[in-house]
Amino acid sequence: MKVLIYKTAEEVKAQAARRLLMSVQRTPQSVLGLATGGTMEDVYAELVKQTHRHAASWAQVTTFNLDEYWGIPIDSPASYRTYMNHHLFNHINVDLDATHIPPSEGENPDLAAAQYEARISGAGGIDLQLLGIGVNGHIGFNEPTSSLASKTRLKTLTQSTRDANRRFFDTMEQVPRYALTVGIGTIMASEECLLVATGSSKAPAVQAMIEGPLAASCPASALQMHQKVTVMLDEDAARDLELRSYYQLVHPDGQESAVSDG
Ligand code: F6R
Repeated sequence: MKVLIYKTAEEVKAQAARRLLMSVQRTPQSVLGLATGGTMEDVYAELVKQTHRHAASWAQVTTFNLDEYWGIPIDSPASYRTYMNHHLFNHINVDLDATHIPPSEGENPDLAAAQYEARISGAGGIDLQLLGIGVNGHIGFNEPTSSLASKTRLKTLTQSTRDANRRFFDTMEQVPRYALTVGIGTIMASEECLLVATGSSKAPAVQAMIEGPLAASCPASALQMHQKVTVMLDEDAARDLELRSYYQLVHPDGQESAVSDG
C-alpha cells in the first residue's frame, strides 16, 4: 500500500484529481470506478478545472459508481445520480450513456445488483477505482461485517452512516435505510485503487485500514490484500498512524518514490 501524506486537504484533492486525469489522458478508454460524498465534491471540482486546463477529453471514458441509495427516485436531489451529474458529468464531455450508477428503485434489487455486476465485467472491469472511507471503515456502502468477498448487493446502512449523511437530507426520516453497493470483492477485482481521506474524523478508520488487522469490522482493511492501492491523506487523517514517519520517509511530502513499493 502506498501511503502519501500531504500537509493540507486541498493538496490531497488536487493530487487525487491529477491522478484521475492522468488515467484518462494515458488511456482514453479508461473504465473508472467513482465515489460520492463530501470528500469527493472538492476532488471533482478540481478534476473539472484540470480537465479544462489541459483540454482533456472524456469522450471515450466509461464510469461505474460504487453505490446508490435504495428507495428514493433517481432524480431526487439527494440521489447519487443527481450528485454525479451536478459535480462532474455536466461539466465534462463524458457520454452520459457510458456513466453507470446502480438503480435506486425497482422490484428486484438482487437482479439489479447482478446486472450491475455483469455490466462492470462486460466493460472489462474497473481500471482505477476511486474510494472514500466512512468513519466506521466502510468503502462503498460495505458496512462493518460485510463479507470481504462480497459482490454488488443491497445493504442496510448503519446508524453511523445514516447520521453522517443526514446533512444531505432535510430530515433524518428522509435518510434512506438501504443502498445498492458494489461489493468488496468487486472493488478488489479492480486493477488499481485510489483512496482519499481528509480530516481528523477519519483518522481512526484510516489507521485501522492501513495498520490494523485484516478484519470485516473495518471493511477498508481488505485493501491490504490488493496489489495496487494508493492512499492519499492530509495530516489530520494521518494523525493516528503508528508508522507515519516511515510513510513520510518513503514518500516525503507525498511524492511518489522511484521504488515501486506496494
Ligand atoms: C460514497 C461512498 C462512501 C464515501 C464515504 C465517505 O459513494 O462510497 O464510502 O466515500 O462514506 O464519505 P464522505 O466523503 O462524505 O466522508
